[in-house]
Amino acid sequence: MKGVILAGGTGSRLSPFTRVINKHLLPVGPFPMIYWPILRLREAGINEILIITNKRHINSFIRILGDGKELNVKLFYEIQRKEGAGIADSLLCAKNFIDEENFIAILGDNIFEDILTPYVQAFLKQEKGARVLLKKVKDLSRYGVPRLDDEKKRIKSIIEKPVHPPSSYCVTGIYLYDKRVFQFINAIHPSTRNEFEITDVNNLYAMENELHYDILQGWWVDAGTHDSLYKAYQYVNGDKTVEDDLN
Ligand code: DAU
Repeated sequence: MKGVILAGGTGSRLSPFTRVINKHLLPVGPFPMIYWPILRLREAGINEILIITNKRHINSFIRILGDGKELNVKLFYEIQRKEGAGIADSLLCAKNFIDEENFIAILGDNIFEDILTPYVQAFLKQEKGARVLLKKVKDLSRYGVPRLDDEKKRIKSIIEKPVHPPSSYCVTGIYLYDKRVFQFINAIHPSTRNEFEITDVNNLYAMENELHYDILQGWWVDAGTHDSLYKAYQYVNGDKTVEDDLN
């Protein structure tokens, strides 16, 4: 299976650093942020990884990561043409790299403890569809929040940044897709915030009863804000006193 890491976007919540540095190259412990999802993929045996980022940042990524030899993986690069046009728009750049295979996509600002292997195996047992990983969090209004069908272990629908959250879980930025994902991306329209939303893509799978889920066991952080970036730093440094309260 191949992996894709999305590392575009504007990183506006981490300004002023992100005026000159791509968010995913900021330090989290001893490494740039993007190392962590790369290492998680490698650990699950996923060694061919596409990194999608902005035109103005791609050279920095290549300088730091090169072809991946130092990390024992094979890295490939694509440019998202319109900076900040949305996660789904970014993922569309993976079409040629993925071809017809099933694959895993990770948002480059998601740092987490779980080993991915069992989730990848569960996805491979599915005949078709998609699988997302959930995490119980407090600040639900920051995320995509699912309405669950506990019995069938399916997601009925997802609301992006809800005012009235339908559950206490967020959809993390770890997604497993079959080849239909690219058709679904082509079928969606920009949201009110003018982005091609991954939640709209996931909802198309949900409408077909094809959106499965697992729940992450360990800590998980979306390191896209100053507070959560600090928390990610503490987690990767093994600080056991960090309370699981920011998410
Ligand atoms: O972290 C989990 C959350 O990530 C989910 O619960 C939400 O459903 C999902 O929409 C997303 O929400 P965010 O508001 O955190 O997304 P953000 O705009 O911060 O983008 C997340 C990553 O996606 C970021 O690491 C870079 C990448 N990205 C984002 C955009 C908008 C791109 O590569 N291109 C883009 O155009």
